[in-house]
Amino acid sequence: MLDSVNGQTEVYGIIGYPVKHSKSPVFQNAAFNHLKINAVYVPFSVKPGELGKAVDGIRALSIKGVNVTVPHKEEILKYVNEISEEVKYIGAANTIKNIDGYLIAYNTDAYGFIRGLKEIIRDISKNKFLILGAGGASRAVVYGLLNEGAEKIYIANRSIERAEKLISDFSELNRVVKDILIPIRLDYIPDILDAVNVIVNTTSVGLKDEDKELFDYNLIKKDHTVIDIIYKKTPLIKKAEEIGCKTQDGIPMLLYQGAKSFEIWTEKDPPVEIMKENLLK
Ligand code: ATR
Repeated sequence: MLDSVNGQTEVYGIIGYPVKHSKSPVFQNAAFNHLKINAVYVPFSVKPGELGKAVDGIRALSIKGVNVTVPHKEEILKYVNEISEEVKYIGAANTIKNIDGYLIAYNTDAYGFIRGLKEIIRDISKNKFLILGAGGASRAVVYGLLNEGAEKIYIANRSIERAEKLISDFSELNRVVKDILIPIRLDYIPDILDAVNVIVNTTSVGLKDEDKELFDYNLIKKDHTVIDIIYKKTPLIKKAEEIGCKTQDGIPMLLYQGAKSFEIWTEKDPPVEIMKENLLK
């Protein structure tokens, strides 16, 4: 809380590059404020190549915890003392907790995605999914869905090799997933659309309005649920709304991943409503 910083104030933050558009400082500070925790959450702009020094800084300056964003989510794993179970699958971390210089890496994106998803889908295990993308965000989404017992997950990616790599990495850690995960090319999507009931975009396609569609969005049916983890209303979401689908943007995932980070750091129940209010401001 900025108007009461004193000698005991603890420091948290987010490291990324660029970081100035991050919404996390606003809602994390609101949460500290609401619970009267003497802490601040600040943005740290860390250039590529400077991450090792930044992590030394976290330890040396006794920064209690950080979120990690692009482009450091994978590389950060080189510098921590311990990685939690989900990070082994996802291969990337978005949350670091510092316990007297001992750094533990977590990934709260999967939790955030699933908690958001549960607001619009009752029983995840009864659903079949089409995931667009096979990067870091896709891995978090797929990890979350597997944990919830999703029946089938098609992973469509521009480069099919990356989808295959995701599946072989996950299969190495857990053999059961081999029958659930199916890699497909983007041009094969029309053939499997009827076999899925939820479509999730994890790629950056749609950030810019002029981005080319990943497939012909006119093929989406009214009974598809369509989710885009991008925060704004993308062409995919707009089209799905027009068709009459149930939709969700990336805001719930952003909110709940942050709430989970807050819980990991403070071991307190996050004031989710307060965080949401401030995120939407
Ligand atoms: P993130 O951590 O956000 O997932 P990433 O690991 O760089 O970021 O992954 C980006 C994803 O968006 C990938 O699935 C990428 O496809 P490729 O693996 O084929 O590169 C996808 N992507 C990005 N731009 C794209 C585009 N113009 N068309 C199709 N897919 C795109």
